[in-house]
Amino acid sequence: MKKLIAANWKMSPASLYDAKDIFKKIRNVARGLRNVETVVCPPFVFLSDMSKMVRSVACTVGAQDVFWEDSGAYTGEISPGQLDRLGVRYVIVGHSERRALGEGDAVVNKKIKTCLRYGFKPILCVGELARDSNGAYLRFIKEQLVASLAKVAIKNPKNLIVTYEPVWAISSHHAGADTPESALEMSIYIRKVLSSVLGKRVALEVPILYGGSVDDVNAEGFLKTGGAQGFLVGRASLEPKKFVNILKIAEKTK
Ligand code: PGA
Repeated sequence: MKKLIAANWKMSPASLYDAKDIFKKIRNVARGLRNVETVVCPPFVFLSDMSKMVRSVACTVGAQDVFWEDSGAYTGEISPGQLDRLGVRYVIVGHSERRALGEGDAVVNKKIKTCLRYGFKPILCVGELARDSNGAYLRFIKEQLVASLAKVAIKNPKNLIVTYEPVWAISSHHAGADTPESALEMSIYIRKVLSSVLGKRVALEVPILYGGSVDDVNAEGFLKTGGAQGFLVGRASLEPKKFVNILKIAEKTK
């Protein structure tokens, strides 16, 4: 199965000029890879220009968020139809930085349903704020999954992506990445929960990515030992050399 590597640019870079420059460097390598699908998710303001630079399905653009209504008076929001017309096929949903701004599981659930209705593949992010010794973090992730996927029907498991992204491991928290061994345990746990929510067949086949301080040094371990089927990459995705290295590592890791 192809690995999915998604770049989450968050609120960077500062200018369209820089966005195009970074995207071009990534695209020129990514389009030639056979075992990796690359999706770059820039800030909305760059999406239109960058979508015109897409040359191959191997490297496309995605969105960092989407609104759940088709149309209407919603100041500041971006509609799914607008994203559709730009050729967007992947949307990050429920990123912890959006949850920290007040987005709850009920909203995440609406956005997942909207994505599926429009044929976007949602990249659903789940992850605990901190680890504890009595397993509360496992219950936390279970609740996130159950509530985010309530009344969601998935026919094709490839239409949903789940990213395990422990919040403490995101580079802005400076704690460093999770270990591949623990990420593997978490993906097994996530599949167990998915099995009760979406059924066994879907749970076994949904791609599970890892996110949180992924770079070109630790990527191989997460793919080989951590069982990750790809990554959601923040900081390192804005450094073309590092990100391209991650793509090349994913291309050759079985
Ligand atoms: P990071 O960000 O790679 O900088 O840790 C990942 C993310 O927040 O999606």
